[in-house]
Amino acid sequence: MRVLITGGTNGMGKGAARALAARPDVELIILGRSQDNGDATLAELSAMGAAGRVSFVLCDLTRLRDVRVAITELHDRHSSLDALFVNAGLGYRPERVETEDGLLEHFQVNYLSHFMLILGLLDLLEASDHGGRVVFNATDFGTSLDWDDLQMTRKWGYEAAVVQGMVAKRMLIHHLHDLHRREGGPDLSFFGFQVPKTVWSNQLAIIPAPMRIMATVMKWFGRFISIDASGRMMVPLFVDGREQTLVRSGRLLTWKNGVFEDVDEASSDVLDPAQRQKLWEVSKNLCDDDGIREIAMRLESGA
Ligand SMILES: NC(=O)c1ccc[n+]([C@@H]2O[C@H](COP(=O)([O-])OP(=O)(O)OC[C@H]3O[C@@H](n4cnc5c(N)ncnc54)[C@H](OP(=O)(O)O)[C@@H]3O)[C@@H](O)[C@H]2O)c1
Repeated sequence: MRVLITGGTNGMGKGAARALAARPDVELIILGRSQDNGDATLAELSAMGAAGRVSFVLCDLTRLRDVRVAITELHDRHSSLDALFVNAGLGYRPERVETEDGLLEHFQVNYLSHFMLILGLLDLLEASDHGGRVVFNATDFGTSLDWDDLQMTRKWGYEAAVVQGMVAKRMLIHHLHDLHRREGGPDLSFFGFQVPKTVWSNQLAIIPAPMRIMATVMKWFGRFISIDASGRMMVPLFVDGREQTLVRSGRLLTWKNGVFEDVDEASSDVLDPAQRQKLWEVSKNLCDDDGIREIAMRLESGA
């Protein structure tokens, strides 16, 4: 199994990478924004026994031009991909940041760059012998998008920006699932995983001191799990066979009592096809890339 993890240099992505590195049948590709963090992660995973089975792609998801280069690089290096973990994401930020593409940093990293990456890699996932799948690190936070202020220029808060990314990711899961379930479409799977407890990730090193103190207290009360525990939970999502992965498509799953179970998404705009179509159109336009537009058209036509 060849698994690509975005943001595999820290936090939940690294937890998943460590758990998968322990399996000799898994080849890992880590995508990250920092060459130093990438080198350190490759050294760490290699020391765990994954030497020769791990590689790194440098890509800063705040830049659409980086995503384009990463898509090309991945095609140059690989002929197929079995799983893509849509994981890299921003949490705490002291202030709103705009990217060089003129977009809200949270929106671009947590959602739009992944939209572009997924579409750009669909052909590699379609070439998988195991049932290509895209696993989204998602939560059921939020029910709708503020279409009048998608880039949050009028009202911004880091928590609201995180929630917006989660809503957009869940809309994309359902939309891609629906497009692929049309007659004759390639049998790829798209599903989300909601970690059942907060993960003690690198976010804890970024948040302000008072928040860190509160989190440390909550840790004593068992409110957190480690990145390794979250990674171990997720392993089947990446390595299970085609049949199991197809059954998971279009769902948001969590882990409870040793099994995966559905998270209820009742009464959310995420379930409204018109809202999802709107986001799909907005995303295509924001990517402004002929290749991505062509791939989207192929999906839309059911070819
Ligand atoms: N922690 C939780 O309890 C929890 C719960 C539910 C969902 N999540 C989701 O899990 C995902 C990972 O979060 P985490 O808590 O594990 O945080 P984390 O430890 O801060 O890890 C975030 C990862 O994303 C990478 N990243 C950030 N900006 C990037 C960019 N511009 N380009 C490429 N990579 C970038 C980071 O790279 P560096 O290594 O270079 O910093 C890091 O590898 C997020 O999508 C988050 O919303 C987390």
